[in-house]
Parts: sequence; C-alpha cells; structure tokens
Amino acid sequence: MEFAKVVRRRRMVRDYDPDRPVPPEVRERLLEHAIRAPSAGFSQGWAFLVLETPEERERFWTATTDGGTPNGWLTRMRRAPLLVVPLSNKSAYLDRYAEPDKGWTDRDESRWPVPYWDVDAGMAALLMLLTAVDEGLGACFFGVPPERIPAFRATFGVPEEYRPVGCVSVGYAGSDDRRSPSLDRGRRGVEEVVHRGGW
Ligand SMILES: Cc1cc2nc3c(=O)[nH]c(=O)nc-3n(C[C@H](O)[C@H](O)[C@H](O)COP(=O)(O)O)c2cc1C
Repeated sequence: MEFAKVVRRRRMVRDYDPDRPVPPEVRERLLEHAIRAPSAGFSQGWAFLVLETPEERERFWTATTDGGTPNGWLTRMRRAPLLVVPLSNKSAYLDRYAEPDKGWTDRDESRWPVPYWDVDAGMAALLMLLTAVDEGLGACFFGVPPERIPAFRATFGVPEEYRPVGCVSVGYAGSDDRRSPSLDRGRRGVEEVVHRGGW
C-alpha cells in the first residue's frame, strides 16, 4: 500500500474477527519491522512478548484486567488473535550511554531529557501498527495499568528490568468495532500545533 495511504488509514481497531488468525508471515513482518525502529545510541533496549495461543492470551487478560464489563471494551479486545507487548529496558540505555563513546559513566538519570527507553519502544510499536494496516489488518495500542505490571511480570516470567510500555493487539477487524468517544475531540490541525520559526 502507498505509504501516505497507510498513515491516513491507520486508526485503532478494537474488535477482531476471532476466526481469522494473523498469518504467521504477517506476524513475523510486524516483528521484523518493529526492530527497524530507531533507538538512542542504537541501544535497542527493547523486547517483544508475543502471545498467540488462546491460553497465552487468556493469561495476559487475566493478569492485566479485572475482567471488564459485559459487552464492554474488553469483550471485543479479547477477540484479537495476536498480542505483542513491547517492553523497554532502562538499564540497557544507562549501560549503553556509560560506554566510552558516550561517557555517562555516572549513569545519572537527570541527563536524560525524556525516557528514551520508552520513546524507542513506542516507535517500534508504531511500526507494528503501520505494518498491520499495510497488510490489511487492524491493530490497537493500549496501556497496561501500573498496578497490574507485577502480575503481568509474574505470569510471563518477565525480568524486573523490563517494563511493558503497552500492548499491541492485532487481527482482522471485527464487525462490532466502535468509534472511540475520544475521537469526538477532533484532530488538532497542523496550524494549531505547528509553530514555524518560533512559538
Ligand atoms: C500511549 C497511548 C495509550 C493508549 N491507550 C489506550 C488504551 O488504553 N485503550 C484504548 O482503547 N486506546 C488507547 N490508545 C488509543 C488512543 O485512544 C487513540 O490513538 C486515539 O483516540 C486516536 O485514535 P486513532 O489512533 O484511532 O486515530 C492509546 C494510544 C496511545 C498512543
């Protein structure tokens, strides 16, 4: 698909056809594209947890949610045949930037203008969202509640230094995908958000 079309068509899909799994080659393309994301110092301090079997996905939803409400958001999201959890590893960045070419050997976190580890995992997530559109599938990035992160880690044996930045659900769009009320806010226009030559 033409790139501009992929960008324009991308939107979060929150209902999936449970009978259409993600083709393995599409799953692999999503992951191959994710690791093409840029990363500070080429640290690549990311990891991707792939959950595909019904049991794996069920364990994810059990660990990260309270079960939801009947016919609510979770009912439709649970139909996603593929979940990919991008995780960031802060210590990988502190280690990388302590190397001789960077020299931040004190590992002082105040040097970091923003958490680059989360930025980079987010960039990888966006590449997965765009790849899904390019392949004719839908995807959604959503958050993992902070109080659920310990249960998530315990369920999947995730090391303490890795933190999920969110989760990307992927699949063919279902027939009950509902428009998010957030969209009522409208997209802020270029002239509203862009400051040319100064604020
Ligand atoms: C960091 C981040 C967190 C988000 N968390 C959620 C979430 O928890 N649940 C959800 O349904 N959508 C979530 N979204 C999707 C946004 O609601 C969505 O991107 C926004 O409303 C614009 O809609 P669009 O992406 O379909 O254009 C999240 C998006 C981002 C970037």
